[in-house]
Amino acid sequence: MNVQLDPQSKTAKNAVDQFRSDILNGLSNTPKKLSSKYFYDKIGDHLFQKIMAMPSYYLTRCELDIFKNKTDELIDLLIPGDEPFDLIELGAGDAMKSTYLLEQLIRKGINFTYMPIDISGNILSILHQKLSSQFPEIKITCLEGDYFEMLQKAASLSDRRKVVLFLGSNIGNMTLEEAEGFCLHLNKNLSPKDRVLIGFDLMKNPHIILEAYNDKEGITASFNLNLLTRINNELGGNFDLKQFQHYQTYDPVSGACRSFLISLISQEVTIDNIRISFEENEWIDMEISQKFSSEKIMDLAQQSGFAIAGTINDSKKWFVDSVWQVK
Ligand code: AVI
Repeated sequence: MNVQLDPQSKTAKNAVDQFRSDILNGLSNTPKKLSSKYFYDKIGDHLFQKIMAMPSYYLTRCELDIFKNKTDELIDLLIPGDEPFDLIELGAGDAMKSTYLLEQLIRKGINFTYMPIDISGNILSILHQKLSSQFPEIKITCLEGDYFEMLQKAASLSDRRKVVLFLGSNIGNMTLEEAEGFCLHLNKNLSPKDRVLIGFDLMKNPHIILEAYNDKEGITASFNLNLLTRINNELGGNFDLKQFQHYQTYDPVSGACRSFLISLISQEVTIDNIRISFEENEWIDMEISQKFSSEKIMDLAQQSGFAIAGTINDSKKWFVDSVWQVK
């Protein structure tokens, strides 16, 4: 298997140190804030799979609709000529949606190498196995590590044109300021002939959005609370999960869908002997899932040095895959 390991990759110890310091910093801030990037341990991954299967969580199905039913339009936008290129996917996971694109590229005999980037080597080896048995002719180079370090690695491996996929509205888990910083950084790592496809969840009826994140079964609540369990298990914390309640909001003006955990009582929690006090009704800011208007997407592209080459909506027009080129 062709896996390029990041030579600078953090050791497991460094990763735990980073986790501890981010958590302790976040809980010493006012208001308290944790990063949703830490939701994804084994249980968190499983809960996210359950979220994606919920009838109310429309995002995955919308983007799947685009990849399944508008594959040729995607190819026309992403690959204007017939030069060989590298197809890079940031946070590829199981590549469920991009597999439709890969299949069609192979069927059309287009010359490309698929380069999935993920921080999990385990996920990459499962993906490599799956794709090589499904498409024996596919060329894959798996890149394990940080997105930007691995983008540089991809550039050093070949001088072919790059087509970068950043799917699933993952950009929505950044504040608008962070998203702009991320896109600027992406821009700096690409050349004028390269293209980027970003999946954005669009503003729509606020009830539909809120229901996607506030399911009655409590799966999204467990997804949030699981970070407290992670802190208990991995950092020696003693959060009592019964004393925290998930609270979800959606603001149709800004498009910010936010989750919080509310402390139900005045309490003290310790993490490895460090004491953290909570007042009754004090909240921890857990996650933002930003929703976009077309204007906001245009602003973001413009502010980060990209021109929009085209956009493809799902049939409900709830989600958009926007294709950008470096200006
Ligand atoms: C991964 N990310 C795009 C999801 C979202 O929609 O913000 C994470 C999620 N949080 C709650 N439900 C799903």
